[in-house]
Amino acid sequence: MRRLEGSRAVVTGAASGIGRAIAQRFAAEGARVVVGDVDLAAAQSVARELGGECFAQRVDVTRATEVEALVGAAVTRWGGLDVMVNNAGVGVAATVCDTAESDWERVIAVNLSGTFYGVKYAVAAMRACGGGSIINTASIAGLVGVPDRAAYCASKGGVVALTRAAAIDHVHEGIRINCIAPGTVDTPWIGRITAGYADPAQARQTMEARQPHGRFVTPEEIAAMAAYLASSESASVVGAAMIVDGGLTAR
Ligand SMILES: NC(=O)c1ccc[n+]([C@@H]2O[C@H](COP(=O)([O-])OP(=O)(O)OC[C@H]3O[C@@H](n4cnc5c(N)ncnc54)[C@H](O)[C@@H]3O)[C@@H](O)[C@H]2O)c1
Repeated sequence: MRRLEGSRAVVTGAASGIGRAIAQRFAAEGARVVVGDVDLAAAQSVARELGGECFAQRVDVTRATEVEALVGAAVTRWGGLDVMVNNAGVGVAATVCDTAESDWERVIAVNLSGTFYGVKYAVAAMRACGGGSIINTASIAGLVGVPDRAAYCASKGGVVALTRAAAIDHVHEGIRINCIAPGTVDTPWIGRITAGYADPAQARQTMEARQPHGRFVTPEEIAAMAAYLASSESASVVGAAMIVDGGLTAR
């Protein structure tokens, strides 16, 4: 069963990792997808993989006008918006004391303000077509403290709180807003983190072993949750933080 047949979707950070897997899964479920990313060439390559009516658009989610234009591109092309995934994100490894103010501002700008703009403009577009589903990529770092990730944890905690508040405000308009809290997912992001260690292979093994189920979460497993949240099967799921972490926060 293709659960998103004919749906009009926008995914940010869709040129890589989790966002790319979500765009692929949505297309496989019958959706048309705008592949939004700051890296236009990579986004175009993903849009080509998806085929059909899918297309790429450059967006820097820290800029409200660009997020508005991204949503506007779906509405202009397809007459409305049914699904918005605010997924673009960045991280910085540091404690509060070691976090440069510029890094703090960048992480909050991309992860939290970018999500705020995405929710804001998606709600406006979805109102006009009677409802929709908004999915924010949070993190387990928004639910528990992760060592050496102060700004990242704060930004993702903000995403969880924003999701809940907006969900309550807009559920009566037929707009459901939820977030996903992944554990450690095997994407290029992990490669960038482990590259900073003296022995990247060892660092990768350590990260993997930290997961109670003994392996990384796959981007496809996050995409499966996103497809569920995008579909009417999740009609009573509102303001939730759906944990997909192999048990990391269960112990
Ligand atoms: N990989 C993990 O272990 C993990 C765990 C929990 C949550 N997450 C979250 O999942 C999301 C995706 O991460 P990923 O692992 O796929 O990383 P990734 O680096 O593979 O992909 C992130 C994408 O976001 C894009 N991006 C960055 N800044 C942007 C901006 N200002 N505007 C538009 N696009 C921008 C990048 O170009 C890239 O294509 C992030 O929000 C991240 O915080 C990742």
